[in-house]
Amino acid sequence: MAKSDPSWSDVDDYIVEHLIGNDPALDACLAANAREHLPAIDVSTTQGRMLELLARGVGAKRILEIGTLGGYSAISLARALPEDGHLVSLELEPEYAALARSNIEKAGLAPKVEIIVGEAVKSLAALEAGDASRFDFVFVDADKENYAAYLEHAIRLSRPGAMLVFDNVVREGEVINADSSDPKVPGTRALYGALQDHPLVDATAIQTVGSKKWDGFLLGIVRDN
Ligand code: SAH
Ligand code: DHB
Ligand code: MG
Repeated sequence: MAKSDPSWSDVDDYIVEHLIGNDPALDACLAANAREHLPAIDVSTTQGRMLELLARGVGAKRILEIGTLGGYSAISLARALPEDGHLVSLELEPEYAALARSNIEKAGLAPKVEIIVGEAVKSLAALEAGDASRFDFVFVDADKENYAAYLEHAIRLSRPGAMLVFDNVVREGEVINADSSDPKVPGTRALYGALQDHPLVDATAIQTVGSKKWDGFLLGIVRDN
């Protein structure tokens, strides 16, 4: 089976042309990231718009992101927020966080976004120890090794009915390979294992193809019963 197909990217271009259009702020973000040699592992343009629409759809006022990189998905998510909304984004690398802050500032979204530098599991524990109100939407896109841990933190930090999105849960189909040589696969499989018959989350996963090849996202809702 073909692992990628050039037409996937062409179709993404068609979708962007018709449904999304030019986006100088996101273009500037990607250009700055490339200048600073960040890995080009941001969500795609179509996925970024999807995140914005999902967060708007649930009326999110407080959003948590795990894995900021240069702020591409953070800009998408912050656009969904109302005037008094807030996005907290967690990033390990101080240089990435600094560039993300600059990109987010240039996009006019700085007042709504807080980036916390450090290992996400530590930042999450600190958030849980604080008295901030809970999140309406959580996007998880950092180290796949910790995906199952991020699930449990996300549940504790979320209100009932919150939406959870995990990126990269298909990995060119490697997710079904228990003996995969891809080191990111076991952590991704641990997320599926944790969600199997999970008492607190209803979930599905959708496979995607496009400019980021064959991958997928997992969508969950924290139960409100
Ligand atoms: N969401 C971003 C892409 C994130 S890439 C976007 O779509 O624009 C994954 C990010 O997770 C990287 O920036 C990486 O530095 C960060 N990361 C990796 N391990 C981490 C950890 N333990 N804690 C916090 N961030 C981590
Ligand atoms: C990688 C990480 C991502 O979040 C992504 O969307 C694509 C690739 C990676 O670490 O290789
Ligand atoms: Mg990702």
